[in-house]
Amino acid sequence: MYSKKLMDHFTNPRNVGEIPDADGVGTEGNPVCGDVMKLFIKVKDGRIVDAKFKTFGCGAAIAVSSMITEMAKGKTIDEAMKITKEAVADALDGLPPQKMHCSNLGADALHKAIEDYKKRHGESS
Ligand code: FES
Repeated sequence: MYSKKLMDHFTNPRNVGEIPDADGVGTEGNPVCGDVMKLFIKVKDGRIVDAKFKTFGCGAAIAVSSMITEMAKGKTIDEAMKITKEAVADALDGLPPQKMHCSNLGADALHKAIEDYKKRHGESS
């Protein structure tokens, strides 16, 4: 029911942890199940140079968190703002239909972290 790629990111998640001196932090809760994801980004010259996450959630949410931090790294903040939950689900070779809501967390937490970064740096979003 889960793709190989999803299982890989669940059992061996990338970028777990916190960035103590993060430039932006986004926290998102999933109203469907109560799971929570916190995403940290480090930005240099308008580009995301590092991203880490802490997720209290299901396996799909962990895999989504792992994948979205990998996708965000190296992107400009404008490019990262355009990463959608569908893109993350596609990158994981799909999510089972009843788990699609789990992909909301990642994109929303990333977008919140970018908005937090913009706020701290005096840019309105
Ligand atoms: Fe909560 Fe997946 S069941 S994010």
